[in-house]
Amino acid sequence: MIRPILTYPNPELKKKSAPVTIITEATRDIVRDMTETMYEAPGVGLAAPQIGIHQRIIVIDVSARDEQPDLIIAINPVIVHAEGDAYEEEGCLSVPNYAANVHRHAQVVVKALDPVGNEQTWRAEGLLAIAFQHEIDHLDGILFVDHLSPLKRDLFQRKQRRLAATPPEAP
Ligand code: NI
Repeated sequence: MIRPILTYPNPELKKKSAPVTIITEATRDIVRDMTETMYEAPGVGLAAPQIGIHQRIIVIDVSARDEQPDLIIAINPVIVHAEGDAYEEEGCLSVPNYAANVHRHAQVVVKALDPVGNEQTWRAEGLLAIAFQHEIDHLDGILFVDHLSPLKRDLFQRKQRRLAATPPEAP
């Protein structure tokens, strides 16, 4: 089922998500909904709190449009190693109409459980490394705009207020 994606400044996006203690059919239902919602959007990643579920679950697929889908499902993901620097443009399904460069690690090693409870390890670089860091941030109530410099964040907030105050344009 495709779920509505919460958008900034919804306070639900600022809450910390709890670890999944037991993986059940209900967990797999959430994963299925998240996956459908991500592909429908379309987006390269989605974290459970973005659909209002405060559990530590993320889905990612950074494959290109003309490639086979390459879905990653990570439950209770933890970055166990990070190195190097990246500074790439990011966007977020919860922050529509905005993109900005963010400082991240260039490579990460992530451990997580898969939907049947097996531990998985990913050694990621490039877009996948950034996606892991971006989605895991969501589980801690952090949006990519929280990483911006005070000046850039101020510009972002002004733009959001202006958008919020503008009535929708007639088609
Ligand atoms: Ni996001």
